[in-house]
Amino acid sequence: MTINFDEAHPRIGTDCLKWDGATAQFGAPDLLPMWVADMDFRVPEPVLLALRERVEHGIFGYYYPSGQLVQSIIDWWDARHSLSLDPAWLVQSPGVVPSLSLAVRTFTAPGDSVLIQTPAYPPFFNVIEKNGRQVVQNPLHVHQGRYAIDFEDLETKLSQDVKMMILCSPHNPVGRVWTREELLRLGELCLRRGVLLVSDEIHADLVFHGHTHIPFTALDDELAQRSIVFAAPSKTFNIAGLHKSYAVIPNTTLRQQFRDELGRLALPSENVLSAVAMQAAYAQGAPWLDEALAYMESNLDWLETFMQSRMRGVHMMRPQGTHLVWLDFRAFGMDAQQLQSYIVREARVALSNGNTFGTDGEGFLRMNIACTRATLQTGAERIAAALDRLP
Ligand SMILES: Cc1ncc(COP(=O)(O)O)c(C=O)c1O
Repeated sequence: MTINFDEAHPRIGTDCLKWDGATAQFGAPDLLPMWVADMDFRVPEPVLLALRERVEHGIFGYYYPSGQLVQSIIDWWDARHSLSLDPAWLVQSPGVVPSLSLAVRTFTAPGDSVLIQTPAYPPFFNVIEKNGRQVVQNPLHVHQGRYAIDFEDLETKLSQDVKMMILCSPHNPVGRVWTREELLRLGELCLRRGVLLVSDEIHADLVFHGHTHIPFTALDDELAQRSIVFAAPSKTFNIAGLHKSYAVIPNTTLRQQFRDELGRLALPSENVLSAVAMQAAYAQGAPWLDEALAYMESNLDWLETFMQSRMRGVHMMRPQGTHLVWLDFRAFGMDAQQLQSYIVREARVALSNGNTFGTDGEGFLRMNIACTRATLQTGAERIAAALDRLP
């Protein structure tokens, strides 16, 4: 390791949602925040250097994308995911959630149904419902000790006049990295039913040993033509506050329709500093990411061992990808509100409430392990001690 991820970088006072926003969100001061999906790590040094250099220039007029920005994306996906992207397929966009909302507006009509797999990242519900569309849920089920797709249910639901499916790959919050077989089977079902597949691959780079992210675009040409992938450097390099993403849309008509909707809303898809950060991260951030992944993997090892000895009633399914751990507290018999209030009050730790991911998230809490080992230990020990005090 050349980077010391154990070093704490206090974030309080930087107007960050995770630390500074926790009091308002959880209604209590001085909580240890392990909720929002960003990292407590400083970004790769080359990203800081590139930003500093750009800031030093001192002029922040309108941005014009150089070929280097697009090339950095192409090189990244080629090196990291063995995916050869055509530059023409890329559309720059101002965030994955805004892009999902745009996709819903572009490719479905009010009243249409859009399918998601629950438990689901909460904005998936919002981008569908707030645009006047209907959510159809295909709950994941636990099969042989891990979350899996219920294909029978999926087939039934897709036949109920669903127009679009939003896939989370890898999956937040359950941490699954879908296999090629799973993705192919799911893709075939969508093709057969004429359902447009939108794959949110924001967590693509956060995958642990023994697992491989398969980009939906890489599956086969026919599926690539009937799908859209959204991706970003934000989770990978801890630059989510810079709001940068892009779409991969191989189909010319779909791409033009998406571009037209971006144009109608006049959304800016570039911010000069975001573009600088993304380009530097993709071009020079790989060694940092490898070390960050190794560190987070060792956090997972520590947490797994700790939970086996000190938190026996809580079930942890080790994530294959993402820096998020989906913890099952159902054995304690508390409803979602009681559970979260208890952990906030007695452990003084802020975790994401499972019920915000859908009703099948009741009794679960999501923990972010992209933090120093000391933070992780403090949080886990406080939770264990609080659970010990339960009658
Ligand atoms: C699955 C998923 N999609 C999208 C986002 C957020 O994307 P953005 O900040 O680019 O809107 C997150 C953040 O946690 C996420 O987990």
